[in-house]
Amino acid sequence: MIGTAQKIAIEKTKTSKITSVDFDNLPFGSVFSDHMLVCDYRNGAWEAPKIMPYQPISLDPSAKIFHYGQSVFEGMKAYRDKDHNIWLFRPEDNYKRLNVSSKRMAMPELPKEYFMEGLKTLLQLDRDWIPQSEGSSLYVRPFIFASGRGFHASPADEYKFIIATAPSGAYFSSGKVKVLIEETYSRAANGGVGFAKAGGNYAGQFYPTQLAVEKGYQQVIWTDDNAHEYIEEAGAMNIFVRIKDTLVTGPVSDRILDGITRKSILEIAREEGIPAEVRKLKVNEVVEAAKNGTLKEMFGAGTAAVVSPIAAFGYRGSDYDLPQLEKSYASRFKKRITDIQYNRSEDSFGWRFKV
Ligand code: PLP
Ligand code: COI
Repeated sequence: MIGTAQKIAIEKTKTSKITSVDFDNLPFGSVFSDHMLVCDYRNGAWEAPKIMPYQPISLDPSAKIFHYGQSVFEGMKAYRDKDHNIWLFRPEDNYKRLNVSSKRMAMPELPKEYFMEGLKTLLQLDRDWIPQSEGSSLYVRPFIFASGRGFHASPADEYKFIIATAPSGAYFSSGKVKVLIEETYSRAANGGVGFAKAGGNYAGQFYPTQLAVEKGYQQVIWTDDNAHEYIEEAGAMNIFVRIKDTLVTGPVSDRILDGITRKSILEIAREEGIPAEVRKLKVNEVVEAAKNGTLKEMFGAGTAAVVSPIAAFGYRGSDYDLPQLEKSYASRFKKRITDIQYNRSEDSFGWRFKV
């Protein structure tokens, strides 16, 4: 628990916005709940977290976030079951990954209770903002950035940890996801920051992704920066393929985000006896399997994307359609994971966390 000196102060909003929200037609991540948590790092320590009405924040123009991009974030979801209990999915893994990301970006680690108590207090306060409809949830965005001042290119002396939340529907608005296997641009390099959930990793993807969108794809599948020979991951999700009946995903590395959904799928596969391989996956192998009909599925996995079947992929000017299976691994994993998340099934793994 956060000690009494660090108790979370709560300033409630005077006018809730909740009645203006159409909970049956939620976009992803663009309607924000009533409150946010803010915690400042100054003089070498994190100060007491505060919860306040969701509002703009003021920063000095020299704040290092603007110039040197020192920022990391997490993506989580809060779910409400039919009895109005609130649940998170493996939140301690998000906490650990936030600190892994911070360390790589020379940012201060956040104490665990700030993250966990902050989340719990904020979610309990804004519990009515957690949608109950199928496929919707409260997207939770914890992030830390350099608020300290100065043009010197060195780590800031002040940071802000904020948790903002947004009731959200599906990440991909169109049902059919089409991806482009990228060979010109790279997302990450050996020894770089690809494994961190650092803001700049996403900014660097926007331009190549825009080019892909102009060609009719929604996401890019990144390949290794060395020879563009192996599948790495997509812009906002890890990638799985099914060749015959075997599930394959690439190993995580310092270029790839260690996705919580990815590792959950591997654990479910192990438990259900689905043959699964974690190994380097050649683009050529996937293209050959698509040509000879052994490529049965390709899907993305992530908090926002959940489990998103990929309908087709593009590579070197050709498009390859994936078969539409009635009994897909993707739908099986999605059901298993969301049943745990929404408290509709037993959770033999101990992943569900009651808020
Ligand atoms: N890869 C990237 C680049 C991501 O942004 C995400 C989303 O968080 C993922 C993979 C999936 O990670 P997780 O399942 O932990 O959300
Ligand atoms: C998530 O899945 O939570 C992410 O952080 C991906 C994000 C870029 C929407």
